[in-house]
Amino acid sequence: MVERVIAIDGPAGSGKSTVARAVAVRLNLEYLDTGAMYRGVAYAVLQRGIDPTDTVAVGALARAVSLEVTQSRCLVDGEDASVSIRGSKVTQAVSAIAANPQVRVEMVTRQRAWIKELGGGVMEGRDIGSVVFPDAELKVYLTASSEVRARRRAAEVSELDLDEVAADIRRRDDADSSRAASPLVTADGALVLDTSELTVEGVVDVIVGILS
Ligand code: DC
Repeated sequence: MVERVIAIDGPAGSGKSTVARAVAVRLNLEYLDTGAMYRGVAYAVLQRGIDPTDTVAVGALARAVSLEVTQSRCLVDGEDASVSIRGSKVTQAVSAIAANPQVRVEMVTRQRAWIKELGGGVMEGRDIGSVVFPDAELKVYLTASSEVRARRRAAEVSELDLDEVAADIRRRDDADSSRAASPLVTADGALVLDTSELTVEGVVDVIVGILS
């Protein structure tokens, strides 16, 4: 069976999750937020008091931890961590976790297994088109100006103000783009869409239009 894979990558606040979810609905495919997986590992690391920079201990935990990421929730070793994985503690720690090559190998293995099991899907993250599924049917790289991205994130995370969100986005952009293991890059052959001036429906229409 040929698996239908749509890869959607881009920096924080580029609109990936909203767009990927809507594309999945339109195509009648399942959707996976791979950022939630890295956040789930970060949550488990913090819960166990492991130092996020201890690459060996974090790698071992990533291989052992049970993660169930669905559209509506994220279970970490059976515990509902859907809210905690979006909080500031996890958001601060997750860049170090996602830069750990052992964590990445394990997450990529699980992401490929997820597609195999479901026969396809819409997957969003930072390295889906470049590393996880370089042969995806369509690879999309979403971007937006840093001001627009900060405004979008601030609207989602009510406990933070715009300046804090903008600083956090800059810090994570730098960390995600400069790390040695699978940095955020535009995959070869990816459709690059700047969503700053586009509505969600507009972006989804472009993506679905290309596929039909
Ligand atoms: O999309 P997000 O902000 O929830 O992602 C959380 C972190 O995980 C972010 O710092 C980048 C990282 N990430 C990654 O390295 N690779 C992915 N495929 C998805 C997310």
